[in-house]
Amino acid sequence: MNITPIHEEFGVLISGIDLAQNLDEQTFAQIDDAINRYSLVLFENQQMNDAAHLAFTRRFGELEEEHVSYYSRGEVTYIGRVGNIDDAGNKVSQRQIKASTGNEMWHSDSSFREIPAMYSILAAYEVPAEAGETEFASARAAYQRLDRQTREFIETKVGIHDYIYSRTKVGEDAVTENQRSYMHPVRQRLVRQNPLTGERNVFVGSHVKQIEGMPDAEARPLIKRLIAEVTRPQSVYRHRWQAGDMMIWDNRCVLHRGCGYDAEKYRRRMHQTRVRGHGPSIAEVLR
Ligand code: OGA
Ligand code: MN
Repeated sequence: MNITPIHEEFGVLISGIDLAQNLDEQTFAQIDDAINRYSLVLFENQQMNDAAHLAFTRRFGELEEEHVSYYSRGEVTYIGRVGNIDDAGNKVSQRQIKASTGNEMWHSDSSFREIPAMYSILAAYEVPAEAGETEFASARAAYQRLDRQTREFIETKVGIHDYIYSRTKVGEDAVTENQRSYMHPVRQRLVRQNPLTGERNVFVGSHVKQIEGMPDAEARPLIKRLIAEVTRPQSVYRHRWQAGDMMIWDNRCVLHRGCGYDAEKYRRRMHQTRVRGHGPSIAEVLR
């Protein structure tokens, strides 16, 4: 297997691997190691299907249930549909398309859960002929760039992440009544640390509504500044999708966002799984 960088700060392309096969322990460990080190791992020309996607995801840990169907209808599914195509292969409703534009704000997947997702694994099946890219940026590299005073200030701070807050930014009808009643704000540390490498990163994104103990007038500019630091233009990796791409990212230390596309004109069908994290980030002990 070959590992080559795709950006100066993070991210690699791994070639010579067929993810639909049952990988041996050593190969699998090398992939997991690459994710912990490089935060973003791309595979090309994969022959994926849901069963193989789920089996591969399970090797990293526990599956996280998909949140839209879970919190709106109580349905447990493990494959998230990204794009504008439903299970039957038809275009989804305008309401759903609009709700998914929430993904166009920089975020970390399911940071609004008490136990936020560790990895997301996205398989591209159909992609638009133009646009529809996804951008990624390293919150670890950004932490390195912060001045000492800011690092010390945020070290023990806690962000309040709220899905209802972030989704109602795209429209009041972007969330269902059930989502409103079941998806409560959660506390996440502003600074996280990789348990294997010890590297720190900031943990922010569109779901962050407040910082505990800080008035909004001070917290908002800080949240904005931290997101801007992570996502400054030269630090962003923009991925132009090809069918057959498989991307894994480490939500603990990467922000991402969709770039939008013409959902009337084009089909975009991607399937996503997520690996549950090891516990509430609030309980992570910084060394
Ligand atoms: C995701 C996501 C953005 C996109 O899959 O979690 O945010 O480009 N995707 O669709
Ligand atoms: Mn996402």
